[in-house]
Amino acid sequence: MLLEIKDLTVAYGGAKALDNLHIGIEEGEFVVLLGANGAGKTTTLRSISGLLKPASGEIIFEGRDLVKTQSFRRSELGIAHVPEGRQIFPDHTVAENLQLGGFTVRRDVAKLHSTIDEIFQLFPRLAERREQKAGTLSGGEAQMLAVGRALMGQPRLLMLDEPSLGLAPRLVIEMFGYLKRLHKEKGLTILLVEQQARLALQISQRGYVLERGVVAISGTSESLKDDPAVVAAYLGHAG
Ligand SMILES: Nc1ncnc2c1ncn2[C@@H]1O[C@H](COP(=O)(O)OP(=O)(O)OP(=O)(O)O)[C@@H](O)[C@H]1O
Ligand SMILES: [Mg+2]
Repeated sequence: MLLEIKDLTVAYGGAKALDNLHIGIEEGEFVVLLGANGAGKTTTLRSISGLLKPASGEIIFEGRDLVKTQSFRRSELGIAHVPEGRQIFPDHTVAENLQLGGFTVRRDVAKLHSTIDEIFQLFPRLAERREQKAGTLSGGEAQMLAVGRALMGQPRLLMLDEPSLGLAPRLVIEMFGYLKRLHKEKGLTILLVEQQARLALQISQRGYVLERGVVAISGTSESLKDDPAVVAAYLGHAG
């Protein structure tokens, strides 16, 4: 396992947001985390990237427990988190945002430039706008930039929190196409949190459905697509 979460409990005040959660991701896998609003999806990602301190449990990444490891160190180890709502630097250009995201590889300038080139190849729309201020990008372009910035650190694990949020359907499909390519062509390990369950199950290999902080259902994405409980709760409407 690249990442294994064991018995993870996270509480805000007295209320448990995660209750003895167990999930795992193999190297090279594309895993989706589904669940209703408030199920604990964002809490799970924030715990993995070290933005939240769990009450108990283990977060084992490449064989070592990261629970006591600081967040910046976790990103150096290769855990990248694209949070809900993007978080890019609006007054910096697209190219500058990517450079800022490459802080862990910055010592090697040639590497920095080749990584930026790779990202511009993946997202040609960003290449066209490299000197444009990030604050003037459209929602879809800003989301691409947020993903590009996370990729600058050459992560071992890319975690994305609802990258489809606020995007028009066409752009959601475009974004998901990029994620599929990153997995297929670059072999990147991806943990995707999504409300657009149908689409997410199309591009992922395996999934977990969270309910009030525990795993309610898990299985291959193929099997989840046909699971009556998943269909009833998440796939009943087009999305
Ligand atoms: N900072 C906080 N303080 C108190 N409670 C919080 C805080 N953040 C989250 N919670 C609660 O923890 C639970 C899990 O929240 P979380 O954000 O992980 O859900 P989610 O699955 O990401 O939901 P959504 O789909 O709406 O983004 C919810 O009941 C939420 O109200
Ligand atoms: Mg959330």
